[in-house]
Amino acid sequence: MDTEKDPSCNKVPLFEKADFPVGVAVDFAKLIRDEAYRNLIISQFNSITAEQSMKASFIHPARDAYNFSETDQLIEFCKKHNKRLHGHTLVWYKGNAKWMDKFKGDKDAWDQVLKEHIHTIVGHCRGNVKSWDVLNEAFNDDGSLRQNVWLKNIGEEYIEKCFRYAAEADPAALLFYNDFDLESRPEKLDAVLKYLGRLKAKGVKIDGIGMQMHTNVNFPYITDINMAAMEVEAHGFLVHYSEFDISLVKAGTLWMMDKHLLKRQGSRMKEIVAGYRRLGSKSRFGITMWGLSDADSWLYDKNDHDRPLLFDKRYKVKPAYCGFLEALTE
Ligand code: G3I
Repeated sequence: MDTEKDPSCNKVPLFEKADFPVGVAVDFAKLIRDEAYRNLIISQFNSITAEQSMKASFIHPARDAYNFSETDQLIEFCKKHNKRLHGHTLVWYKGNAKWMDKFKGDKDAWDQVLKEHIHTIVGHCRGNVKSWDVLNEAFNDDGSLRQNVWLKNIGEEYIEKCFRYAAEADPAALLFYNDFDLESRPEKLDAVLKYLGRLKAKGVKIDGIGMQMHTNVNFPYITDINMAAMEVEAHGFLVHYSEFDISLVKAGTLWMMDKHLLKRQGSRMKEIVAGYRRLGSKSRFGITMWGLSDADSWLYDKNDHDRPLLFDKRYKVKPAYCGFLEALTE
C-alpha cells in the first residue's frame, strides 16, 4: 500500500501538541540499535511502555533471579529524555515466567511468591516508574474472573493483594488495572468497574484503568468507545488508552486494502482521539500507541498486510498520524 502519496500533514512533535501524555510501546532492542527508531520516539512521544522488558517472563526468569538490565536502561533513557515510564505488567496470566506456572506450594507459599515478585520489581523501580499495569486481563468476556495460577492457588484475594503489594513497594506510583474489549463488552466493563470499585471502597489503592483499545477501522462504534471511557471516568478512575492500534485486517477489510482504507483509519483515529479529549483533563492519563511503525506491531507479526499504527515501515507519517494530530488541534 502506498502511504507516501498522502502527505496531508507534516511530522511535528505530537506530544507537544497534545493536552495529555502521548505514549508508545517500545521494543528495547530497536531502541538501542536503531537510531531512526529512537529519534522518532524521542521527538514524538513523552510516555514509554516496554512492550516486553518488564513482563514477568523477562524480568523474573527464576524464583531467585531478576533481570533488570533492560528496565534500568529504559529508566536512564526516560530520565535523559524527560519521558514518563509506565510499567507493564506485574501480573498477567500470559506473561508468567515458566517457573511460576510450575511452582508448587500451598496458599501461603503462593502468596509469598506474589508478594516477593511485586515488592522486588516495584521496589527496584521506586521513584523512576511513574505508574504500573499491576494486573492485566484478569476478567473473561462475560465478566467472570479469568482462570490463572494466582486465582487457582490464592483465590480471588490475589487481585486485592496485587494492588496492596504494589502500593506498599511504591506508595507514590499510580496503579492501573489493564484489559481489552472494555469499550465493546459492556458486561465485562461493568464487572471490572464493580469489582475494582468494591476494592477501592475498602481502601485499596487503584488509580486508573487501562483500556487497551485494540480496535479496527469499523469496530467498536465511536459512541460505545466514548461512553465506556466516560463510565470509567465517572467511577473515579484515570483513563489510559494503553495499547492503542487500529487494525485493517481484523475488520475483515483485506479485500479493500488501498489508500481509502488508510484514510478511513485516519478518520477513525481522529474521532477516537477527539472523544478522548472530551474527558476531563485530570482523568486523561494518556494515549499509548502499541508500537511505533506498522512493521513493529504485534498485528503485523500475525499478518504482514496489516497497518495498525501511526507510521509506515519507513517511519513516514500515515493518515492515521494526521488524524491524531487534527484531533489535537480542533
Ligand atoms: O524475541 C523472540 C525472538 O528471539 C524469537 O525468535 C521469536 C520466535 O517466536 O520470539 C520473540 O519473542 C516474541 C516477542 O513478542 C518479541 O517479538 C514472543 O515470542 C512473543 O510472544 C511476543 O509477543 C508479545 C506478546 O504481548 C506476548 O508477550 C507482543 O510482541 C506484544 O505486543 C504483546 O502485547 C500484549 C500486551 O502485553 C498485553 N495486551 C495484549 C497485547 C497483544 O497481545
